[in-house]
Amino acid sequence: MRIFVLTLFPEMFTSVLAHSMLKRAIDKNLLDIRFYNIRDFAEGKHKMTDDVPYGGGGGMVMKPEPIFRAVEHIVAAHQLTSPVVVYLTPQGRTFNQQIARELALKQDLILLCGHYEEVDERVRMALVDQEISIGDYVLTGGELAAMVLIDVIARMIPGVVGNEQSITHDSFYQPLLDYPHYTRPQNFRGMQVPEVLISGNHKKIDEWRQQEAIQRTKQRRPDLLMTNDE
Ligand code: ADE
Repeated sequence: MRIFVLTLFPEMFTSVLAHSMLKRAIDKNLLDIRFYNIRDFAEGKHKMTDDVPYGGGGGMVMKPEPIFRAVEHIVAAHQLTSPVVVYLTPQGRTFNQQIARELALKQDLILLCGHYEEVDERVRMALVDQEISIGDYVLTGGELAAMVLIDVIARMIPGVVGNEQSITHDSFYQPLLDYPHYTRPQNFRGMQVPEVLISGNHKKIDEWRQQEAIQRTKQRRPDLLMTNDE
């Protein structure tokens, strides 16, 4: 899968991609991420990427020309046939595991990170396929949101997470939160690992985990257990 990130601050991504699973995914060529600085597509001596809003008011608006030029350049340079352009904005639909699964199936994603107040509306009208928010709060820019998308999508690519089972057992893969996990030591400061987990009886262990997952979901996220007809 290829992800093209359009941002004014490509350096913000460096550390995130240099560690752990994302690094491994990139090293193993499972994930190809490229960064484009929107400023490189701006014109004039000052390479302006934003301007004052028509109609007045505070704040700045990201100009359409550099963003259109950048996307057109990426599409032509990489011969993309059906890229999905995603704009990270608090106005988008709220990101979740289901949306991540859909996006992970795409061949090429172009992630547009906004800054300042907003992008010129014509970017939305003619360039953007999907708008995604990572939650009901306002970040200073779309970069952190793009990193969240990249991280969640990357771990769905087969081979990125070492143990494929851990993806299918994840919170939100099933509409259940995860069950409790334990590792050694068996007794830590008087807190014991549940007997069933050391019983060696895998049928019992599976049942216990399923029950714990249901219990935990009921307590913490009962909304996940509601079906559409309820
Ligand atoms: N840009 C600013 N806030 C955001 C949010 N909550 N989600 C996605 N992009 C954003």
